[in-house]
Amino acid sequence: MTVTPLDILLLKGGPSAEREVSLVTGAACTQALRSLGHRVTAYELTRDLGALCKALTPKPDVVFNSLHGHYGEDGCIQGILDLLEVRYTHSGVLASAMAMDKPLAKRLFTSAGMLVPEGQIAGLEDFRDGDPMPRPYVVKPLAEGSSVGVTIVREHDNPPPMTTETWNYGEEALLERYIGGRELTVSVLGNRPLTVTELRPKVGFYDYEAKYTEGKTEHLIPAAVHPQIFQKALNWALKAHRLLGCNGVTRADYRYDDADGEPGDLYLLEINTQPGMTPLSLVPEQARHLGMSFPALCQWIVEEALSR
Ligand SMILES: Nc1ncnc2c1ncn2[C@@H]1O[C@H](COP(=O)(O)OP(=O)(O)O)[C@@H](O)[C@H]1O
Ligand SMILES: [Mg+2]
Repeated sequence: MTVTPLDILLLKGGPSAEREVSLVTGAACTQALRSLGHRVTAYELTRDLGALCKALTPKPDVVFNSLHGHYGEDGCIQGILDLLEVRYTHSGVLASAMAMDKPLAKRLFTSAGMLVPEGQIAGLEDFRDGDPMPRPYVVKPLAEGSSVGVTIVREHDNPPPMTTETWNYGEEALLERYIGGRELTVSVLGNRPLTVTELRPKVGFYDYEAKYTEGKTEHLIPAAVHPQIFQKALNWALKAHRLLGCNGVTRADYRYDDADGEPGDLYLLEINTQPGMTPLSLVPEQARHLGMSFPALCQWIVEEALSR
C-alpha cells in the first residue's frame, strides 16, 4: 500500500475505566500506522490540558483517537479538538455523546423502529425493597463500556446488585430485561456494514474478562443465524450509525433471542463510537474477514477523517 506520510498524534489511555483497553488499542494502532510510514506521536491523555495543547503544537495532520469510555468516547475530547480546530478520527461531539448515553441512545433507536430491551432507570433507593423489576434482569452503568459494571441478576442469585459498596457508577443505573439467546455484533465503516459475528463466551456472559482474555470467547464469523436476522443486524447497524450522525467506524452490539424458534427477535443494545482495536477486537477481525488488513483499516480511518 502506498500512502502519503502524515503527522499523526495518537491519543490513548485517559482517565476512564477503560484506560487499559485504550492503551492496548493505542499500541496496536501506533504500530500499524508507523508500518505505513506515518510519523506517529503516541500521547497518553491526562487532565493536563496545557500538556495536550503543547502536544498539539504544531498541529498534526490528524489526531487518531484510540480512547475508550469517558472523555474519549463521550464528546469531551471531541469538543476540545473542535475548539482547537484539529481534525480527528471517529465520531464528533454530538454523536459520541448520544451513543455513550445508553438510555438516550435507546430512545432514539426505538423512535427509528429498532427493537431494544425494555428497561428503566433506577437509583440505589429502588433496591431497598428488593428487585425493582422481575428477574432475570441486567444492571448496567448509564455510560460505560467493555461491560464494566454490568451485572446479570438471575432467578436464584442473592447478592443485592446495587449497593453503596458495590456500585461506583453514579447515582443511577440502567436496568434491562435479560435477553436470553445469543450475542451478535456488526461493524460499520462509513456507509458499509461489514458482517455479523456471533460471540460465544465459554463461561458466563460477554463480560470484561470474556472480551479481553484470549480463548475465553469463541468468535463465529460470519454468524450462522437466520438470513433475515443477519440482514436486519447489518441494516440496523448502519441505520443506528446514521441516526446518531456517526463518522468513521462504529460497532453495534446485539442480543438475539431465538428461543421460540427462528427467525426470533433481534435487540440492539448499543453502538460504540470508539470500538476496540486490540488484537482480540471485533472490528479488525471483521475487516480481516473481508480482506482488509489491520494497517489498511487504520489507514481507512485516517483517510475518512481527512475527507470530511
Ligand atoms: N438486556 C440484556 N440482556 C442480556 N445480556 C445483556 C443485556 N444488556 C447487556 N448484556 C450483556 O452485557 C454486555 C455488555 O452490555 P452493553 O450494553 O453492550 O454495554 P458495554 O458498553 O459495557 O459493552 C453485552 O455484550 C451482553 O453480553
Ligand atoms: Mg457492548
